[in-house]
Amino acid sequence: MEGNKTKTVISTGNREIDEKMGGGVPLGSMTLIEGDSHSGKSVLSQQMTWGSLNGGFRLSFFTTENTVKSLVKQMQSLSIDILDFLLLGRLRLFPMEIAQSKEDVLSILLQAVKAEGQRGSDMIFIDALTPCITTTPPEAVLRFFEQCKRLCSEGMTVVVIVHSHAVDRDLLVRITSLCDAHLRLRTEEVGERLIKAMEVAKVRGASKRTGNIVSFEVEPGFGMRIIPISKAQG
Ligand SMILES: Nc1ncnc2c1ncn2[C@@H]1O[C@H](COP(=O)(O)OP(=O)(O)O)[C@@H](O)[C@H]1O
Ligand SMILES: [Mg+2]
Repeated sequence: MEGNKTKTVISTGNREIDEKMGGGVPLGSMTLIEGDSHSGKSVLSQQMTWGSLNGGFRLSFFTTENTVKSLVKQMQSLSIDILDFLLLGRLRLFPMEIAQSKEDVLSILLQAVKAEGQRGSDMIFIDALTPCITTTPPEAVLRFFEQCKRLCSEGMTVVVIVHSHAVDRDLLVRITSLCDAHLRLRTEEVGERLIKAMEVAKVRGASKRTGNIVSFEVEPGFGMRIIPISKAQG
């Protein structure tokens, strides 16, 4: 996009999250979003999608968790309306059905990601990679990330979401060392409430001084609501 030539980051559309990331998702970077089920990975990636679309970027969103219809509906319930972007072709959604026995899911996915880049997509989301790697040897998973990283060095921005249980500690260390940013999500109990915490475990170029955790709740009809630190600490 013309207006984006001078930008170096992609805003997530959420000021607090942008701040923790040194302005947003670095252009041409690879980001890993990791957390347990219900920790807010999808909501966060949907929020980031919205920020990127409004920043004028072209997106391709691969999902193993939704159909086009259910994703549009899910995002609407967070007051995110992607229909115009879909109709304009600025957002392309790819629901993936992963058959257990399918042999080379990762290389098929990689080809699809490459093809989207060639079609002019600036940014790729994969939510979630988990079903694609359940039976994959660690080396092959790592190779996938290496190849994504190569696409990033050619200018693409890639965000991969993965469930914490899908990668063991050793593999996680190796993946995150390849990534430019690593966002770790968890659910925390604060008094009676369950809140989400997003930790910026790693990000290229951001200052660590301000603290690197953002707490939030997911409010129906509103979306991510940031909880001030004093309240999050109970
Ligand atoms: N539209 C919504 N309205 C209210 N709560 C929601 C909505 N979407 C997601 N949530 C809640 O937000 C939390 C995080 O969901 P999600 O981002 O889908 O988790 P993950 O992708 O990490 O499994 C869950 O507790 C879920 O119930
Ligand atoms: Mg999810």
